[in-house]
Amino acid sequence: MTTTLPLLPARPPADDALPAGAREHLTTTPFGLYVHVPFCATRCGYCDFNTYTSDELGPGANRAEYAGTAIAELRRAAEVLGPDLPTVSTVFVGGGTPTLLPAEDLAAVMAAVRELFPVAPGVEVTTEANPESVTPASLATLRAAGFTRLSLGMQSAAEHVLAVLDRRHTPGRAAQAAREAVAAGFEHVNLDLIYGTPGETDADWAASLDAVLAAPVDHVSAYALIVEDGTRLARRISRGELPMPDDDVLADRYVQADTVLRGAGFDWYEVSNWSRGDAARCRHNELYWANANWWGIGPGAHSHVGGVRWWNVKHPAAYAQRLAAGESPAADREVLEPADRTLETVMLGLRLRDGLPLTALSDAGRLRAADAVARGLLDPGAHEAGRAVLTDRGRLLADAVVRDLTD
Ligand SMILES: C[S@@+](CC[C@H](N)C(=O)[O-])C[C@H]1O[C@@H](n2cnc3c(N)ncnc32)[C@H](O)[C@@H]1O
Ligand code: SF4
Repeated sequence: MTTTLPLLPARPPADDALPAGAREHLTTTPFGLYVHVPFCATRCGYCDFNTYTSDELGPGANRAEYAGTAIAELRRAAEVLGPDLPTVSTVFVGGGTPTLLPAEDLAAVMAAVRELFPVAPGVEVTTEANPESVTPASLATLRAAGFTRLSLGMQSAAEHVLAVLDRRHTPGRAAQAAREAVAAGFEHVNLDLIYGTPGETDADWAASLDAVLAAPVDHVSAYALIVEDGTRLARRISRGELPMPDDDVLADRYVQADTVLRGAGFDWYEVSNWSRGDAARCRHNELYWANANWWGIGPGAHSHVGGVRWWNVKHPAAYAQRLAAGESPAADREVLEPADRTLETVMLGLRLRDGLPLTALSDAGRLRAADAVARGLLDPGAHEAGRAVLTDRGRLLADAVVRDLTD
């Protein structure tokens, strides 16, 4: 780990240059690219991602030009990181709804990645998609462009739950899209689920899990519904129209998901993620959780290279203007102290099935780890072998355990 990074001003330099310390392990640390696509057809009531419907977008940014703008930032990235460029091991196109763009635009972004960067032979290339925004033809175009993995937002198989979430697709559409992805040759397909939506019953959740198991997918992400400030969902809850998700119900749903998925050959590898075998893990997310290096393209996207973290201006119009003027789209930058990096690695690592070595914890953290073993939150066998690994009960209280061990 680098210990000699100089302190930098908050605003990144105009040419985005990185300090020498941050480049030290550039070509030997796993490197990924994230491409944010900030557009959605409609906004789901629970979502506070940096995404815009046509009505919200305003002038100065348009979808038709977005791929070209993203490619302009990719060129800057290659200039800043060069001449000894890191090899791209994963690409993740997320949103928003990437598949609102024509598949040809996403293919053009991937072609630019290959033109500008060395790309690993087994590169993982994921795009997120809304179930209603892909077709067999668009999936075939994406597959031909080198996309290997599709991540579909399914959320629920219950129609009334989808309605509360403001989702526009029918209950069966996500599984159908997964089948189309497999037919198009995608190697890996993920379905995202949300549990604990107001009005969702145990039977609804069981039906959602059954629907996932009936689909040809090798990865499932299941998230407890988070009521984000400023969303339509938060307003509806504060007006008393909908109840707040209940913590006990959320815990029950998590156990139900884990039991059903485990019974069908899925194993958890991060608190909210299950895969059928290690080869089906999302390597791009693993790269984040290992605190490796990535460049985030797009408005509001975050990047991290060698302890330097920066993020782009949030609005697509401001982002496009900066790049059109040949300026950096970065808004702010911070240089992490080694202690901050260690803390982040611990916070992320504790949520993983592999856990982390006890030596990564502070002295106080190690003492608390022993206590967490006694309380049934950390695995005793792993602890004896020198690692901190959550038990099934520990996963239910993962956030609290992480706080306790990193305080
Ligand atoms: C960018 S979205 C996925 C792609 C696509 N836009 C879609 O919604 O189908 C990423 C995922 O984050 C999850 N998510 C977003 N907001 C959430 C919230 N407030 N609580 C829980 N999960 C959330 C959803 O499962 C969603 O599928
Ligand atoms: S959940 Fe997905 S589709 Fe819905 S608003 Fe958020 S990014 Fe868009």
